[in-house]
Amino acid sequence: MKFTNLGATGLSVSRICLGCMSYGTPAWRPWVLDEQAARPFFVKALESGINFFDTADMYSNGVSEEVTGRALRELGKLDQLVIATKVFFPTPGNEGPNLRGLSRKHIVQACEASLERLGVETIDLYQVHRFDPRTPIEETLAALDHLVQSGKVRYLGASSTYAWKLMRALSASERSGWARFVSMQNHYNLLYREEEREMLPLCADEGLGVIPWSPLARGLLTGKRATVRAKSDSLADDLYGQPGDDEVIAALHRLAETRGLPPAQIALAWLLGNPTVSAPIVGATKLAHLEDAIAAVEIKLTDDERKLLEAPYRPHAVRGWM
Ligand SMILES: NC(=O)c1ccc[n+]([C@@H]2O[C@H](COP(=O)([O-])OP(=O)(O)OC[C@H]3O[C@@H](n4cnc5c(N)ncnc54)[C@H](OP(=O)(O)O)[C@@H]3O)[C@@H](O)[C@H]2O)c1
Repeated sequence: MKFTNLGATGLSVSRICLGCMSYGTPAWRPWVLDEQAARPFFVKALESGINFFDTADMYSNGVSEEVTGRALRELGKLDQLVIATKVFFPTPGNEGPNLRGLSRKHIVQACEASLERLGVETIDLYQVHRFDPRTPIEETLAALDHLVQSGKVRYLGASSTYAWKLMRALSASERSGWARFVSMQNHYNLLYREEEREMLPLCADEGLGVIPWSPLARGLLTGKRATVRAKSDSLADDLYGQPGDDEVIAALHRLAETRGLPPAQIALAWLLGNPTVSAPIVGATKLAHLEDAIAAVEIKLTDDERKLLEAPYRPHAVRGWM
């Protein structure tokens, strides 16, 4: 495994982050693996040197954090691992006032709950899953800084938002001497490249690590799948299927054939070849998916190959934020 620093921090993360949205309980989404089925993925990831794991309080209504925390505590060495989780969304059944968003009250409560579910004393990377239009950003940032100062959280990260909102948050943190966001978890893959306009240059300039979510466009980039997720992941229908997508997929598959490699490896190698990208957050429901992601770290694409993959892209409406 190769490692990189997360943005301008000293934190060393593997170039593949294992996305743990796929682990928890199928009662939440039919394609999610339960604890027993998820275990081999943690074993394989740790054996391969992956030290970076991403979950969220809302995944499987908290069960993803429980499954992830138990696996990493039992199988790994916590002082070498980077556990990332998120706050913002309500969980079904917990939709009352103050059970969502980024108020000081919810952030502190949600962090305590995540720590308990993960079974750890400190969260390595605590991320805002979305920005909260109903809470002043200064309230959010002060609450997050309080978590860092009290030792509950080590680093702060943000996820999909407008570049101007992120910049405003960075500058407010700096003005007040608060811990600032060190990473951006955004929607970025060969089928959705709108982040290249504003967000990626901002992250490069401000020294934020970039950890793209759904790097394989929720599986669409890999070709036709007859899987539970392909049949039931309705968010994939909302995000993709825009003009130009089929041409991008065809270009990817042509290059994969020429190189004699699976399309997933090429699509991840394209992301890994972008110097602004720290680590794609991969979703794996079969061990072979994880093996492809690990192999992708060693693949180098030429400039001409990158151009072949990028040429058919057509600008997309902004998607995947709310
Ligand atoms: N911050 C956010 O708002 C946000 C949003 C979404 C996700 N995330 C994070 O990003 C992580 C990854 O998201 P994702 O699962 O959507 O990522 P993804 O890597 O784009 O999609 C994963 C799916 O692609 C298919 N796949 C993966 N590798 C494959 C391979 N080598 N060959 C063939 N098919 C392959 C599998 O589909 P099948 O299961 O159908 O086989 C797998 O479930 C999540 O776990 C979560 O941590 C964050």
